[in-house]
Amino acid sequence: MTVRTPAKINLGLSVGAPQLDGYHPVATVYQAIGLYDEVKARPAPSGDVGVVVSGEGEQSVPLDEDNLAVRAARALADAFHVTDGVALSLHKTIALSGGLAGGSSDAAGALVACDALWGVQASRAELQAVAAGLGSDVPFCLVGGTAVGTGRGERISPVLARGSYEWVLAYADDGLSTPEVYSELDRIRAGETVDEPEVSSELMAALRSGDPYSLGLCLNNDLQRAALRLRPSLARTLDLGDEFGALGSLVSGSGPTCVFLASDEDHAVDLAVALSSSGLCRSVQRASGPVPGARLVT
Ligand code: C5P
Repeated sequence: MTVRTPAKINLGLSVGAPQLDGYHPVATVYQAIGLYDEVKARPAPSGDVGVVVSGEGEQSVPLDEDNLAVRAARALADAFHVTDGVALSLHKTIALSGGLAGGSSDAAGALVACDALWGVQASRAELQAVAAGLGSDVPFCLVGGTAVGTGRGERISPVLARGSYEWVLAYADDGLSTPEVYSELDRIRAGETVDEPEVSSELMAALRSGDPYSLGLCLNNDLQRAALRLRPSLARTLDLGDEFGALGSLVSGSGPTCVFLASDEDHAVDLAVALSSSGLCRSVQRASGPVPGARLVT
């Protein structure tokens, strides 16, 4: 079984004060973009769950129980009393620790692939419940498209969104740790009153209109200032996007990947060339969105 599973960006990410369990309540608008990892699932002896990894960052991906795709396979087997094993192989295109939900997307892909391999035939709601136990972004990676996430990000509701958008992604040299970025935000906000997270009505209106110019004006990420404190050089990358006419620029999720909205495909090519030749980022990619979530291709 082969599954293609997309990266996500956050068009809006509003973060509340930390709860007792350490998690932060969020109100976020996710969009899945056309940049994919591939997850293959092949039969293996009973109880065996193994993984091999190729592609982007392959040497840094854990091959044991810390691998989120392995945890996803085990969680699905436990939930549905499956005794079969699986040999997973991940081919990665999505950067690691980039704020693009690469690991979560692989977990969503493993759920879909193992469901098919083992003939579980779990309903969407059942898969979503298993996904929510694996990580905040995993339920969205199953659904894809454009959607609101509340709770820790795992409670997904659909959004009325029109249009397709051209994004340019600029990768930094090293990843950022999501828990560290959230902790940095807490440090920055110490002593401030932190409002309940909410999705901006301007952002929802822009998505309903399908107009990239309106969308560019209301992209917003509360984690950005924490990511910039931990990685000040990202400010120059964001400025460069603005100089080359990006309709909007922001850090994706907990970063450090910077995301730029282009007005159309030609503009996206120009932006990508400008960012690549700046020497400010490790690499640059283009992707359009929204796209569907993790799907079987064979
Ligand atoms: O849910 P996930 O395992 O992807 O989260 C990784 C880490 O990010 C958590 O351990 C937590 O430190 C932080 N996090 C948070 N609030 C969220 C989501 C993630 O504090 N809503």
